[in-house]
Amino acid sequence: MYSRIIGTGSHLPEKVLSNQDLERMVDTSHEWIVTRTGIVERHIAGENELASDLALHASRKAIEAAGISLNEIDLVIVATTTSDMLFPSTAAILQSKLGLANHCAAFDVQAVCTGFIYALSTADCYLKSGRYRHALVVGTEVLSRIIDWTDRSTCVLFGDGAGAVVLKADSEAGILSSHLHADGSQNPILAVPGRVCNGKIEGSPFVYMSGNAVFKIAVNVLEQVAEEAMHANGMTPSDIDWLVPHQANIRIIEATAKKLSLDMARVVVTVDRHGNTSAASIPLALDEAAREGKFKKGDTLLLEGVGGGITWGAILLKW
Ligand code: UT7
Repeated sequence: MYSRIIGTGSHLPEKVLSNQDLERMVDTSHEWIVTRTGIVERHIAGENELASDLALHASRKAIEAAGISLNEIDLVIVATTTSDMLFPSTAAILQSKLGLANHCAAFDVQAVCTGFIYALSTADCYLKSGRYRHALVVGTEVLSRIIDWTDRSTCVLFGDGAGAVVLKADSEAGILSSHLHADGSQNPILAVPGRVCNGKIEGSPFVYMSGNAVFKIAVNVLEQVAEEAMHANGMTPSDIDWLVPHQANIRIIEATAKKLSLDMARVVVTVDRHGNTSAASIPLALDEAAREGKFKKGDTLLLEGVGGGITWGAILLKW
């Protein structure tokens, strides 16, 4: 038994924040941002837009693309770092907004930018085991809420958005393997240290990142986990039709492609228009490429991500 992606969807908030807009907010330049990150613009959620709202739009599109009825969904997993509330989970809120209240299991997965890989892998285990038949797996973020808009080292990097997939238990090949890793000793280099305590926030509520340290780790672990995934399936880079990487920085994406000897024509890139949308970046890229008709049935896709934790992982699948 396999689990297979049968539909994708995504949603970006209407408001676009360009590099030129950022030039007016902090001491930065379009030139610096593009050269160092590849980012040209990103989307920012409206004042009243929550992670569950972005997730709702993306989910409806994914369910429509899957061609199943809503009540066939029997598992909802949401990957997010910017949940609507401390609790309940954004998945529970999404379940209710979809009209599936009291119909199925729903929970969040928190692995920051690797969240979607962790969530998809979790759903795959449930479906393969026969426990559920259709899972809705979503990555959604309103990172703009946890950004210090006076800190040029972070505020130029991130954006908001959501991506979703419907996964079906099937005898036909879909997800071939997933590979998850975490090194919690690295947690201080990328974190929002703040916590709610006795009615106050203790510690900074904004993203802190030691960019250089994360960059070095990212390039190494993404190569390692890609090799691990290919090795587990007896594959080499020539067997990979598409790499769908986490979209943090074009230099990281290009370095990974180079180390794997993958032509950039086989790599899905959205970082220029989305910025880093953390758990949403891989399903957003997946949906965009799918709707552009890039993937053919039977294509081999390698999904991979790295983020806070430090966490990292990869999923190898047949489209
Ligand atoms: O999604 C989770 C995983 N996250 C990542 O993978 C992100 C990994 N890290 C990165 O993508 C890169 O490290 C950054 C894009 C964050 C930074 O690029 P960098 O090439 O590593 O730059 P840097 O941090 O070494 O900074 C170089 C210079 C510094 O100036 P000095 O000290 O050399 O004078 C910074 O102060 O660039 C300066 N700088 C900026 N200048 C203009 C930092 N941010 C900006 C800015 N505009 N926005």
